[in-house]
Formats: sequence, C-alpha cells, structure tokens
Amino acid sequence: MRHGRFAAIGLILLGAAACRRAESPRSGPALTPTPAATSSRDVHSYGNPEEIRVTHADLDWDVDFDRKVLRGSATLTVKRPVGGRSTGLVLDTRALDVSKVEASREGSAWTNSPFSLAPPDKILGSALTVTIPEDATQVRITYATRPEASGLQWLDPPQTAGRKNPFLFTQSQAIHARSWIPLQDSPSVRITYRAHVRTPRNLMAVMSADNDPNEPRDGDYDFEMPQPIPSYLIALAVGDLAFAPISLRSGVWAERPVVAKAAREFADVEKMIRAAETLFGPYRWERYDVLVLPPSFPFGGMENPRLTFATPTLLAGDKSLVAVIAHELAHSWAGNLVTNATWSDFWLNEGVTTYLERRIVEQVYGARRAEMEAVLGLQDLEKEMAGLPPKDQVLHPDLRGRDPDDAATDVAYEKGALFLRQLEAVYGRDRFDRFLRGYFDHFAFQSITTDDFIRYLHANLLDADPKLAAQVPVADWTEKPEIPAGARRPVSDALAPVEAEAQSWLDGKKPAAAIAAKNWSTQEWLHFLRALPNPTSPAKMEELDRAFHLSASGNSEITNEWLLLAIASHYEPAYPRLEEFLTSMGRQKFLKPLYEALVRTPEGRARALAIYRKARPGYHPIAVATVDKIVGWPG
Ligand code: BES
Ligand code: ZN
Repeated sequence: MRHGRFAAIGLILLGAAACRRAESPRSGPALTPTPAATSSRDVHSYGNPEEIRVTHADLDWDVDFDRKVLRGSATLTVKRPVGGRSTGLVLDTRALDVSKVEASREGSAWTNSPFSLAPPDKILGSALTVTIPEDATQVRITYATRPEASGLQWLDPPQTAGRKNPFLFTQSQAIHARSWIPLQDSPSVRITYRAHVRTPRNLMAVMSADNDPNEPRDGDYDFEMPQPIPSYLIALAVGDLAFAPISLRSGVWAERPVVAKAAREFADVEKMIRAAETLFGPYRWERYDVLVLPPSFPFGGMENPRLTFATPTLLAGDKSLVAVIAHELAHSWAGNLVTNATWSDFWLNEGVTTYLERRIVEQVYGARRAEMEAVLGLQDLEKEMAGLPPKDQVLHPDLRGRDPDDAATDVAYEKGALFLRQLEAVYGRDRFDRFLRGYFDHFAFQSITTDDFIRYLHANLLDADPKLAAQVPVADWTEKPEIPAGARRPVSDALAPVEAEAQSWLDGKKPAAAIAAKNWSTQEWLHFLRALPNPTSPAKMEELDRAFHLSASGNSEITNEWLLLAIASHYEPAYPRLEEFLTSMGRQKFLKPLYEALVRTPEGRARALAIYRKARPGYHPIAVATVDKIVGWPG
C-alpha cells in the first residue's frame, strides 16, 4: 500500500479498513505505514493524489442515443493529506467537453473554479487542472463525452440481438474511464460512487454497483457502489435488458433473446462462488451477476464488480467456455479486492486471477479439465513469448511511454499463474492456500505494487523456509524474460491420446471419420487442432471438415483455432466462415490472431483489408485501435 507518508490518505481508506478488520482480525490496521513503500508513481495518470485525492464520485448523466453522448456532471469529493493546503487538483480526461467546473466546501455554495485542459497526449489524454479554494472538499465538473469516446461503444439497433433498440456499454480498463468520467484514472486511487442515470424510458441501465433485478424500468436509475474501487472498474450498460436468476445472489442480465441461453450456460455460477469462498475467503461484494453483451464486446469478460461483463461468444451451449466466468469471478479477490497499483503490476491482477480461475474450475469441473486448460494456457504463453522482445517477457515491465492496452499479453496471465503454481508446488497446497487467504485479507480494498507483494511473500511464506525458497527465485520470476529454468509445467494425461489420434490420422493409418473424437471436450478439440502441422494440406483439411463440420462449429474457441489453421493451410472452403466470424463478433482474443495470420501473406492481407472494411464500423474503439495496427489501416 502506497499511502505511508500521508495519514489522511490512510484515513480515506478507513471505511475499507474497518470492513477488513471486521472480517479479518489478524490483519494490521490500515494506518500502519508499509515499510519502504515504493514511490514508483503511476505513469499512466496525470492525477496528483499525493496532494489532493479523489475519494468519492457522484455521477449524473443523461444518456443521449441520438447524439451518442453522455451529458451531465461528476461531483468529486476530495481529501488532502494532514496539513495539506493544495489548491491544484489534477484529473485525467480524454476527449471530454468540459463546460464548467465549480467547487464548494461541504454544505456551502458552489463557486466557479478556473480550469485548464492540457493539449492531448495520444496515450494519456488531457490533464484537467482545476484551481480550487484551500478548504474546498467538493469539485463539480459539468461535461459531455464525444461520440468517439474510447471507453464507450454506442450500438445501433442492428448491432444488437433484439435489433429494435440501441445499446451502450462502457469498458474502462485500462485507462478509458477518463474518456467518460473526469477523475484520477489510476488503479492506485480507490473511490466509492453513486450514479443517477437517465435513459430512454423503455431501456434498462445497470452498473458495477447495487443492481436490483426488480427495479422498475422507467428510464430513471440510481446506483451506489459503497466499497472503494479503482476507476477502471466503473462500468455502465444501457439496453433492452432482461434478467434471469441463477441463485439468490447471482443471475444473468442480457438482451431478451439471449437471456435464457445465458442462464443455462452459466447455471454453475453459484457453485463457483462457493468454491471460491472456501478457497480464498468470503465473497465481499454481495451480488454476483453476469451481463452478456452484444457480440462487439472486445473482451471475453471484464470483472466489473458485482456485474461481470461477458462476451456472447462464451455461449457454446455446453458450459465448455465458462472458465472465463470463473476467471472474472476470481477477480473479486485478485484485482477488485487486492488491486494492481499501476499497470506494471498488472500480473497481480491477471496472473493471480488465472491461478485462482483454474482452482475454481478444478473444484467445479474436476482436475482433468483444469489441467487441460493449464496446458493450453502454457501453449498460448510459449507461442506468444516466441514473438515478444525480452523486455515484454517480463512479469513486471517498465511501461513508460507505452499504452497499457498494448502491453496486456499472456505473460501477465500465464507466466503469472505459473509463478503461483510454482509456489504451490514447492510449499504444498495447504500452506500456499493459507498464504493466499491471508494475502487477500491483509490487502483487502487496497492497491498494491509488485514490491508490496514480494515483501508480503517473503514475510509470510518464503522466509520461514529458505531452503524451499531457493526453488522460487523471485526476481527471476518477476524481473527477467523467459520462463525460469526450474519452473514446473502443467501436464495433462488427457492430451496424449489426442495427439496419438492426430498422428495416426496424419500418418494415413486411419481416415478422419475414424478419429476417436466422439467424447472429446472443447479442450481436447483445441489440443487436437493445435497438434496438426501448420500448414495442413487442403485435402486433409477437407477430410477433417467433412467428418467433423469444423467450419460450421458453433463453439467460438474451436472456430478460432480451426480458422487459424485454415488460413495457414490456404483452405479456401473455410473463408466464408472466416469472413462471417470476423464480421459477427469483436472479441480481441479472436480478432488479433486471425488478422495477424491473414496479414502474413500478400493475398491474405488483401483479404484481411476487404473483411476489415466491412467489419470495422461494428468493432469497439479499443478493438479498432488494435486491428488498425495489425492491418496497417487505412491500408
Ligand atoms: N480484466 C481482463 C480484461 C482486460 C484486460 C481489459 C486488460 C482491459 C485491459 C479480464 O479479466 C480478462 O482477463 N479477460 C480475458 C479472459 C480471461 C479468461 C483470460 C479476455 O477477455 O480474453
Ligand atoms: Zn482477468
């Protein structure tokens, strides 16, 4: 925790600390300064929380679908450190039209405050500097977003499942909250919030807050998030949404045509929450709901507190892709409760969560499935690392001058998860589980750096047994490229038979129709497709397609893997499916590798551009930025 120098900042966290103490008598008080807290500041925020810190936001918006803007105000509560008299509040913004800034001291009248918007930086946006009286405790910014806001996607009715109503959703991680709310957009700054949202009368609004499934639908909605969260977890969606319960504390929101299917797919969510609670401690966020978005949602899932946002490409019909839900749920501990203080510490969110995700999958779906997923994850990591410069293979990278979205690779996820697996293997499950649980209790509702983690790791696990610690060279894991030499790799017995089937078919020992795939899960199919040579002859591809109808698969992960192979193999009969896939969803996990595979040849690049020309208007601004770079748009 990086608040050591400022008693008042400790005070700000008192609410959280009190809550933490109630649940965890073992953990120390929040006001105890962490020794030698890193001063490494967040290079992706202009905010000055050390001088004046935003602690709460009151948000008020009109959602204007005609103009594709949010219009309203953000009233920020600010606190200074003890004795602090700073009058300059610095906030992050990107492409906001700020019309007025006022300040007040609690209860007293509002007075206009001078403000200036700096020229925009391509990555960081514009610093908004406001001059406020020394005793001001509230700052109100009246503003509107722009239609091109990077954190908002405004969908026209044809881009939705229902096709009758428009849809709006936000995506704040990593640094897009500033494109729709002026605030200190750093994960080291935690705030509570309330929001008042006005929408067209027939639409429903939901947020990463206290959604009530029984809220009357009247176009006027109030929200409260009483737990302090980082800005990247503030989220809003507006559309013709329906709700289906899964358990007393969980359920699914989705457009009407999708909601029943989504509730069936995610029917095990309550089991997952229970599994997670036995492993990592109480679920501290009350409800856990999942919102299934229209297909342009650029991620598999996003861990917005109390309301995970999810892609409809998870709806395979057989629960085979629900590890993503286990993952977003696991963020309720790693990420939302204990948060990366800067984007260089991203692995603390994603690596720890990926480890937890597989523990949840193991409990709910068995070790066989969890291990297969771990092996597939390691394959992803090795494939991605092969193309990364050494500095990007580091778990704790230097991101100065870089867009955190570009730095989000499998390194944080899979190398981070391997690091935790290593600790588990070396210290044993019981001990490691106790460590993890203590970690979540100790740092609950705080934002921490990699150094904070390492200090805690030493004090609570490594130093008790230096002999074992030699098997986990921490600095090699966090600061060096590649996978450390002593790393234990996941292995799965289930996958060798799949490889054997692939080989005997490739060797001509059996026809495709005789491959023993009848009981293969999605994970076995993915492994099979990855085991085939790149390229595979078009004749072999056709034989496989005829036997298993892979070009017609309704499973997005299998489709992705199949299409990657089809591109490398110049298997033309799959091209119509490729075009359909790339124009019907906007999940970056699929867009990125598919467009990358296409642009490897001149003919493929032409195809990529032709498809992208059609698809681009439907993609999210974040995905557009990614694919523009891959295909060299505008060509
Ligand atoms: N928090 C991430 C999504 C994210 C990361 C958004 C970085 C913006 C910047 C989310 O929890 C996530 O990791 N989603 C993955 C799925 C997961 C199972 C690996 C995704 O979307 O693919
Ligand atoms: Zn994640």
